[in-house]
Amino acid sequence: MLLNLQQTINALTKGEIVGIPTETVYGLAGIITKEDTLKKIFQTKKRPSFDPLIIHVSNQEQVENIFLDINENMLILMKSFWPGPLTIVSKKSSNISSLISAELETVAVRMPNHEKTLKIIKAVGPLAAPSANMFKKTSPTSAQHVLENFNNKIPVFNGGDCQIGIESTVIEVLDEEIKLYRKGKITKEEIQKVLPHIKITEEKSLASPGHMKDHYQPKKPLYLFNTYEEKNNFSSKGIELNLTQDAGLSARMLYRNLIELSQGPIDFMYFIKNKYPKNEFWDAIYERLEKASSEVP
Ligand code: TXA
Ligand code: MG
Repeated sequence: MLLNLQQTINALTKGEIVGIPTETVYGLAGIITKEDTLKKIFQTKKRPSFDPLIIHVSNQEQVENIFLDINENMLILMKSFWPGPLTIVSKKSSNISSLISAELETVAVRMPNHEKTLKIIKAVGPLAAPSANMFKKTSPTSAQHVLENFNNKIPVFNGGDCQIGIESTVIEVLDEEIKLYRKGKITKEEIQKVLPHIKITEEKSLASPGHMKDHYQPKKPLYLFNTYEEKNNFSSKGIELNLTQDAGLSARMLYRNLIELSQGPIDFMYFIKNKYPKNEFWDAIYERLEKASSEVP
């Protein structure tokens, strides 16, 4: 069922969970002060309780009640990249439910760059929202994807197709150092530009509790090959996952293409790596492709 803005606000206020749009991917949202709502998010996604949720805010005051402390570096990052696809992890204040933080001392927060969703958050308060897919499956980039993911059982606010198409960059901001847990549109280089003196370390992705090797899995296997020659040695079958030379456009198409190709009468999908450029934004796309792919049998 699709909800309008007011129905979405009413449903969230009552403690229901609703699919909401952001500029990255759709989230499965609930207000952060209701334990039952938070539990419902985990149950609906079949997400293990050790995988913490991101809190979505619409203004700075809300952030002050979520983090224990906001240092100068965090202020610069928020000013530079919010609203936008950067998630900041830092020590949480004691009033934040341990369901959200999965018993960690830290919590993840971002301000999404989506006008309607910011209106919703302004009306109901901060929202906890993981991506609106079943655990380990492909993230949704349209309202329709969310309806399909949960067999029409979860109401969705339709805010159009996601403009970025892959999840936010996740960083933990410490006093002297930044740890990069998940790559995204906002690159290490861009962060370094606004904080030239801080050390940024790429963490092995498993350092972030929800980062599994087999994430983003589509319904049909995806195999990665370096070249067409490698692919043809494997099989003449399959259908190619085609992206473009432009990272922004490719990120936007990635999950939609994986979802749509998987629905066709095919054995497997394949992706040819040497056709595409190499840079930090592309690394974020490759990271998703690696995790979405299966071992070539
Ligand atoms: O773009 C996005 O971030 C989307 C939209 C809906 O905002 N959300 C999203 O949420 O991708 P989710 O739950 O699918 O991914 C959140 C990631 C998880 O990998 C989790 O491990 C990491 O953020 N995370 C959350 N809290 C953390 C913490 N305290 N420390 C380290 N990593 C954390
Ligand atoms: Mg996710």
